[in-house]
Amino acid sequence: MGAQILVTGATGMVGGEVMRQLSARGAPPIALAHSADKAPALEALCTEVRIADLRDEAAVRAAVRGIDRLFMLTPVTPDQAEIGRTLVQAAAEAGVQRIVKLSIIGADLEPGIALGRWHREMERAIEDSGVAWTFLRPAGFMQNMAGLFGATVPAQGMFFLPCGDAAVCKSDARDVAAVAASVLLDDGWEGQALTITGPEALTYYQIAALMAEASDRPVTYVDVPEAAARAGLEQAGVPEPMLSAFMELWALEKTGGAAEVTDAVERVTGKAPRSFADFARDNAAAWKPAAAGGPAPD
Ligand SMILES: NC(=O)c1ccc[n+]([C@@H]2O[C@H](COP(=O)([O-])OP(=O)(O)OC[C@H]3O[C@@H](n4cnc5c(N)ncnc54)[C@H](OP(=O)(O)O)[C@@H]3O)[C@@H](O)[C@H]2O)c1
Repeated sequence: MGAQILVTGATGMVGGEVMRQLSARGAPPIALAHSADKAPALEALCTEVRIADLRDEAAVRAAVRGIDRLFMLTPVTPDQAEIGRTLVQAAAEAGVQRIVKLSIIGADLEPGIALGRWHREMERAIEDSGVAWTFLRPAGFMQNMAGLFGATVPAQGMFFLPCGDAAVCKSDARDVAAVAASVLLDDGWEGQALTITGPEALTYYQIAALMAEASDRPVTYVDVPEAAARAGLEQAGVPEPMLSAFMELWALEKTGGAAEVTDAVERVTGKAPRSFADFARDNAAAWKPAAAGGPAPD
């Protein structure tokens, strides 16, 4: 029998894709679902569905029993570092041998930004646990442009960000999942922190042009002052501390701090990372006037 792999966040964007890719490689994992009602949708891709709220320590301990390798995804919540520490401790005590942690680009920068510091706290807990690890540090997902950051496009043909004309390099969550699947299944990546990006840095003006081309309608990027961006997030119902974390991220992007391009996807998977043009082609429906639903799964 192969290694028993547990995938947390299995119903989410990255976790769902990790499930599909492990299953496609003949290594269906065990899925961790937040609630029982989501279990049936996972069954075809895994050998077992375990149910646990990551805030429930006893349930987490039960979920990691008999597991060899853990894909560790924590939701973006103010208490995620605490959730992460509980999970790491339970995994170490259960004898898990490898943790592949979904982190974020720049997590090790000092002082960095809040989104990175939250993940670094969890990375440190893993380093201290004695369990072998690989950290996946992806750039902002392209999928954000078909979600929250591009939510105004279907109705208005515009999106609003305070990032000037700086170039940013994003990653496709599907490529992040492909790297995760390889690092879970193949040996040799232990002790490495992999910064995962797409193939090129683009300005939001270039990103808008690619969204327009793919969806066959005008899409305009409007460079707005920070106060307007903050008001937009408030209007969209984004709570603190996420709201301030996004503002900090965009300030970093504006100064060119999110333009790094790496070859990690190709190095780990043997395939070139998807470009934003590829992503836009696959997700054009999200920007059409009557768009309903989020990014395409594949
Ligand atoms: N978005 C970006 O640009 C970006 C960039 C780099 C890194 N990241 C990192 O990527 C991660 C998010 O990945 P994603 O976009 O795939 O997330 P996602 O689609 O929002 O999925 C989150 C998953 O976590 C589960 N979950 C939430 N609360 C839970 C709880 N209390 N107990 C058990 N499961 C719970 C959700 O299940 P339910 O839906 O059933 O609750 C879902 O399966 C974060 O750690 C983020 O920092 C994001």
